[in-house]
Amino acid sequence: MQEKLLLIPGPTNLSKRVREVMAGPQLPHVGSEFYDTFKETVRLSRFVFKNEKGVQFVFTGTGTTGMESSVVSLTDHGDKTLVLNTGYFGRRMLLLNQIHRTSVESIDYPEGRHADPDDLRKRLRDSKFKVVFMTHVDTSNGVVNPVRELVAECEKAGVISVVDSVCAIGGEELDFDRLGADIVFTASQKAIAAPPGAVLLAVSNKAMEYMEKRKDTIESYYMSLPRWKPIMDDPKMYLATPATQVLLALREALRELKEEGLEERWARHRKLGETVRAGLDELGVGILADEGFRADTITAFWVPDGKAGIIQKELDDKHNIMVSRGLYENREKMIRIGHFGILTVDQLKHALDLLGSVMEDAGVAKKHLQVAKRK
Ligand SMILES: Cc1ncc(COP(=O)(O)O)c(C=O)c1O
Repeated sequence: MQEKLLLIPGPTNLSKRVREVMAGPQLPHVGSEFYDTFKETVRLSRFVFKNEKGVQFVFTGTGTTGMESSVVSLTDHGDKTLVLNTGYFGRRMLLLNQIHRTSVESIDYPEGRHADPDDLRKRLRDSKFKVVFMTHVDTSNGVVNPVRELVAECEKAGVISVVDSVCAIGGEELDFDRLGADIVFTASQKAIAAPPGAVLLAVSNKAMEYMEKRKDTIESYYMSLPRWKPIMDDPKMYLATPATQVLLALREALRELKEEGLEERWARHRKLGETVRAGLDELGVGILADEGFRADTITAFWVPDGKAGIIQKELDDKHNIMVSRGLYENREKMIRIGHFGILTVDQLKHALDLLGSVMEDAGVAKKHLQVAKRK
């Protein structure tokens, strides 16, 4: 069977090397082989976050594990928190705060808008918050937030900052040590190009010290970061059975990333971003994210209501290429293209040509798109 080209916002296509390590014999989590694999995976994760100073975590879970473990490990009931809500994953962070009973507020932005550091500065001047949560790239709409400026505002105000970088790390520039955020997390299945199943977090020493002090009051076993910390130093200790094959695949994907070079990987993603934006512009499509705040890892655009499903199905049936639709209320009128991982510019150009022909066949001509653009 010919491999499908995945242009969905994760999981993404895997390299041959990554697939091959997954197909090997079951790796036990006890014994020196896993120990060595794991230690190398943690070292490589430090490399991809540029985290030399803080604490690095890798464990079995997904991006949501990163979100929830940040909330439970940092907050108590009633703590004042703020979510910069720029899309579906901002709303999920809001929900997680509500579930864990913080006193959460949000700054809500319309679909396609980025979080504004001026809004944050004003809000932090007017109220005292303990933690600010932000999304680096919101996968539901392709907005990339100015995390450097946003984190700088948090630092100035002495507020803990958490960055959901699930749809960014490995594809968008991020330097944990220089950024000054307290927690940044990602998941294995996006720009790192490993299978789903691992969460990776970088934590500042200050935040780690704080979490360790409140270790006994953290209301979760699995999501407690202080509970995981000793495992990072000694993976022979048991907390819960790791998905060893996923971690093995993650190590291989990280090795490949290091071989390519982090700066080179960012540059390739910048090129992928430029390619998709130029290609969609040619098709007359209205990109959702504001100009200047368009991610290099995922792009979302409007199509006339009812056409998204047809376009997705035709591209899959005829060309073995899979794109995503919008989430929930945008399902029928939005297409999302994930362009990260090991994808090449040539593959993307080819896919955009085929997308153009499928859109034409579906009767989505430029004049329809001009209308959809204004929605
Ligand atoms: C920005 C962002 N945050 C969090 C998540 C949740 O990750 P997962 O689906 O791996 O739990 C995703 C998933 O797509 C995401 O894109």
